Amino acid sequence: MQRFMKMTNVLWWIKLASVFLMKSSQSDGAIICTPPCLLVSNTTDIVAVDHGKAKVNSVILGLTRAVAIDVHFSLGFIFWSDVTELNIKRLRIDDENTTTVITNIGVCDGLAVQWRTSQLYWTDTTYNRISVSDLDGNNQLTLIFSALEEPRAIALDPDNDAMIWTDWGSAPKIEKASLSGQQRVAIVTKEVYWPNGIDLDRGGKRVFWVDAGYDRVESVDYNGNNRKLLFQMHSLHPFGVALIPPFLFFTDWVTNKELHMLDATTGEVLKSFSVNGGRPMGIVAYDSGRQPAGNLKEAISYS
Ligand SMILES: *[C@@H]1O[C@H](CO)[C@@H](O)[C@H](O)[C@H]1NC(C)=O
Ligand SMILES: *[C@@H]1O[C@H](CO)[C@@H](O)[C@H](O)[C@H]1NC(C)=O
Repeated sequence: MQRFMKMTNVLWWIKLASVFLMKSSQSDGAIICTPPCLLVSNTTDIVAVDHGKAKVNSVILGLTRAVAIDVHFSLGFIFWSDVTELNIKRLRIDDENTTTVITNIGVCDGLAVQWRTSQLYWTDTTYNRISVSDLDGNNQLTLIFSALEEPRAIALDPDNDAMIWTDWGSAPKIEKASLSGQQRVAIVTKEVYWPNGIDLDRGGKRVFWVDAGYDRVESVDYNGNNRKLLFQMHSLHPFGVALIPPFLFFTDWVTNKELHMLDATTGEVLKSFSVNGGRPMGIVAYDSGRQPAGNLKEAISYS
């Protein structure tokens, strides 16, 4: 018995020492990549991608099944959903403190941070709901609970009072409502099959999305007009999309290199990266320009 106690003590000290070593080796650590850069979840890891230098490194490891991802840039938070654990977690980048902020949900394939009011929005494709809370997971409210089939990606535009989400149910569509869930309207209902990821050019009031049924990357304005096919490739399986003007990035499950960078205006493929295999899921830009303090400018020229 005595011997056993000693042994567990030793193990405990080894564990403590290794945690300490890991922390100190990451202590230049508040910088996870050089903005503007990208964060990608590939289910087990959250990977930072420096697209300029084509550098890829894991910033969060050993996750159960991470899918959706977003950040609060100025507060230094990364949020992600785990679709096996059925929760949403948050990492504070400064001190690497991970907390579970949302529990008692179904599968969450999409989440988005309202950076001006410090709120978290998420979709739930099990219970077919769109909900909101503060960044600690308190003050939860369900905003949309009717006529949702398979809600997936969600993106917010605080300055135009808009939330925009995809639904890949039997009547696939992209819908828009106010941030409180009012004035709901479908903006894309035709030639859409598996709309997965979504991102916004808020200054230009334009929606970018990827469709894993039509194998496309497309964009459309907030009213569903001026639709533009940017990229299409047979048997693509895109999942996430992120805009860092003038570039658009999307993750894909079938191509050899799983992350592609397009010219957001022309759709021309400029570069492809590998994030070391797996099926990359959510992707988000890690940059202050994506969550600006001041007013928004049109990011892309659409003429
Ligand atoms: C981590 O964050 C949670 C929630 O903000 C807090 O309650 C907890 O004390 C923090 N833990 C550490 C080690 O800082
Ligand atoms: C996710 O990416 C990391 C780092 O590139 C890699 O080590 C890991 O194996 C990947 N996960 C999967 C499921 O492929």
